Amino acid sequence: MSAPHDPGAGGGCPVAHGTGVTRLYGPDAEKDPHGIYERLRDVYGTVAPILVEGDVPAWLVLGYRENRRVLDNPLQFSRDSRIWRDWLDGKVSETSPLIQMVGWRPDCVSQDGEPHRRLRGAVTDNLLKVAGRGIRRHVTHFANKQIDAFADSGRADLVTDFAEYLPMLVLTRVFGLAESEGRTLAESSAQVIKGGADALAHNEKIVSILAELAARKRAEPGSDFASGLIDHHSGLDDDEIVQHLRLVLITAHTTTSNLLARVLEIVLTDDALRSGLVSGQLNMSSVVEEVMWNTPPLAVLPGRFATSDLELGGRAIKEGDMLLLGLAAGNVDPVIRPDIAASVAGNQSHLAFSAGPHECPGQNIGQGIIETAVDVLLHRLPGLRLAVPADELTSTASTWESRLDSLPVEFAA
Ligand code: HEM
Repeated sequence: MSAPHDPGAGGGCPVAHGTGVTRLYGPDAEKDPHGIYERLRDVYGTVAPILVEGDVPAWLVLGYRENRRVLDNPLQFSRDSRIWRDWLDGKVSETSPLIQMVGWRPDCVSQDGEPHRRLRGAVTDNLLKVAGRGIRRHVTHFANKQIDAFADSGRADLVTDFAEYLPMLVLTRVFGLAESEGRTLAESSAQVIKGGADALAHNEKIVSILAELAARKRAEPGSDFASGLIDHHSGLDDDEIVQHLRLVLITAHTTTSNLLARVLEIVLTDDALRSGLVSGQLNMSSVVEEVMWNTPPLAVLPGRFATSDLELGGRAIKEGDMLLLGLAAGNVDPVIRPDIAASVAGNQSHLAFSAGPHECPGQNIGQGIIETAVDVLLHRLPGLRLAVPADELTSTASTWESRLDSLPVEFAA
């Protein structure tokens, strides 16, 4: 877009050479995305011009209220990227990694209104069915299996040995896939979200596994999510079925695995919180809630597209501009959290699941996976503690999320 139409002042940020506009990707964004959000907030207020991969311009929404305004108003801010001006003008290639995150597909997340309701209905009806069939049982099974692999050693990395893979193992069972396909799918999902040159190839790998699954389930239906989508009364065609399997698989795994690692991090680094959990004064749901306020797994949500010229946060947004929702930045907006240390217990109005018509329909499933997984881990590994000082823990971010690199622990073998 020729947007940012109103770049305002530059200064102090990792900026694209000669434009004065901050990049939300690259080495600086990988190391300290929160620092970038705060610098942008200082310079621009609640809505900032930024550049994403390929130096494609967008607006990053930093204010809590502005995020809600965008999410709650699909008539002004559509999820349908077919109106994205830079894409229409041919400035974003089909092979850009951005397409994996914001490109249009025949899935519910890409549409609004009646088409969205029809497709979302097929997803939510089947998620309800799946949830009723005991997801916690699958989590307990796979969590124990993963712990068995390292329990005798007295040491583990709870990111690579546990959190990074567990949600995908549960999803293979829910989808009716072979467990052995879980590793490839988990790695490819991570690469799709990370972006970069390989994102397209990884997406193709995922789609090919899921197309095979859909064909198999058409021939031999079972009591799984894939068969439920095929059988749904809204009559999804082959492409719609594969794209919804893809959507749920990638969204559910990447967010839940990220959140699980963050919850384990806080449980292991915050002594007061851990003793609250042990004494029963705190429950696991309130810990998960706190993490969703402070480090939501999807830090930046792609994307919404302005349906006409309008104003947001004092910025002139042009028809067809892309807006990215700063969920992490909105959650710590000083306007709604003047005292960042004050408790958020019992307050579920965070942006981690977004809001409006596309609000996450899998939130209970994700939270159930995390709560069960942490419970199993704490029961199986007596004396569980961090094996490195807390300030040595590091994270790596892409435009969309920040993930913990590792979580080394020790316990009584
Ligand atoms: C617990 C971690 C999770 C987080 C933080 C999360 C976050 C989100 C967010 C922010 C959106 C909104 C997308 C938008 O507004 O454009 C979303 C949508 C969605 N999520 Fe989740 N999610 C989680 C887990 C799951 C799980 C476990 C499932 C399925 C089993 C799931 C399925 C979906 C689907 C299908 C959508 C698209 C809904 C629509 O467009 O109407 N999510 N999620």
